[in-house]
This record gives sequence, C-alpha cells and structure tokens, in this order.
Amino acid sequence: MNFKDYIADVPDFPEKGITFRDISPLMADGKAYKAATEKIVEYAKDKGVEMIVGPEARGFIVGCPVANELQVGFAPCRKKGKLPRETIEVSYGLEYGNDVLQLHKDAIKPGQKVLITDDLLATGGTIAATIQLVEKLGGEVVGAAFFIELKDLKGRDKIEGYDIFTLMTY
Ligand code: PRP
Ligand code: ADE
Repeated sequence: MNFKDYIADVPDFPEKGITFRDISPLMADGKAYKAATEKIVEYAKDKGVEMIVGPEARGFIVGCPVANELQVGFAPCRKKGKLPRETIEVSYGLEYGNDVLQLHKDAIKPGQKVLITDDLLATGGTIAATIQLVEKLGGEVVGAAFFIELKDLKGRDKIEGYDIFTLMTY
C-alpha cells in the first residue's frame, strides 16, 4: 500500500510557508488506517512495550489503536490545563509556535517500558518534550513511532540515541 496516497498536502496551513501533511484521508479509510497502525504494531511487538504515551491530539490517533492491538495501556500527554489531576509539565517549541505539555504524575510507573507515538515528526520539539516527561516519571523510552517524518526539519537530531520508526518521509 502506498500510504502517501492517503496524505493530503495543504499549502500555507496553519501559516504561510508551511505545507501541512494532513492524515485525515488515511484515517477516513478503514483499511489504510488499519494497515498503517499494523506497521507500528509490527515495529513495537518485540520491544516489551508496557505503556504507550502520545501527545495531544494526533498522538492519540496513532497510539490508541496500537495500544489496543498490543493490549497495553495508553497515557495521554496533553496541552496545559486539560489534565484534571496532579501533573508534571515541560514547555517546548514546534514548527509553528510554542506550547506546554503535561502528563499525569501517576501515568507511568518507574521502570516501565514506554513507546511514544505521534502522527508526524517535524522539528522534534513535541517528541523531545514527551520523552522528557516520561523519563521524569522514571519510564524507559524503548521507541518512538510516527506515520510521517519531515526530513528537512531534522527532528531526529533532537532525539538522537532513541529508536525511531517512521512510515513515510517527506
Ligand atoms: C503537530 C503534530 C506533532 C507536532 C510535530 O501537533 O501532531 O505533534 O506538531 O511538530 P514538532 O516535531 O515540530 O514538534 P500540534 O502541536 O500541531 O497539535 P495537534 O496534534 O493538537 O494538532
Ligand atoms: N506538525 C508540525 N508540522 C506539521 C506539518 N507540516 N504538517 C502537519 N502537522 C505538522
């Protein structure tokens, strides 16, 4: 399956000069969504993953079906002010702006093997922040998996040393 056939390229969104890689058509096609998810399940299945963490919002779209398939839990990493109980937080930059991400303090048990998921790796700001949060809680990040990688933005450089899987590159 050519997964790129299911990605919509939207010029100048959310601001001029950014080509937005929209995964909605992939999600809209049940077979394509399942096939893309299966690739990440394949990547993760021998890693001893105990918990998946994905950043709001598109990290949920990738991580939840993978968590269900692997029969492990999923912890949402959310933008500031959305999680109701005690949190830890970190601020970060991304391709178009800055934000703060939070994780519930009890989301990860010390020593747990964690897979991080998101739809897209751009500058790596979001994923680096998510890794920081997981490690603050004592989790061991055993991998990070994405549908899409934007090579020119060099996100991999920000998370050197971690095991990374991407399904499509631009
Ligand atoms: C997008 C995308 C990744 C992040 C990638 O999320 O889903 O999480 O940007 O960019 P980076 O590698 O430069 O950090 P966004 O913050 O737009 O939030 P959304 O998923 O809620 O749309
Ligand atoms: N997140 C950061 N950069 C992005 C892009 N170009 N397309 C979709 N999501 C993004």
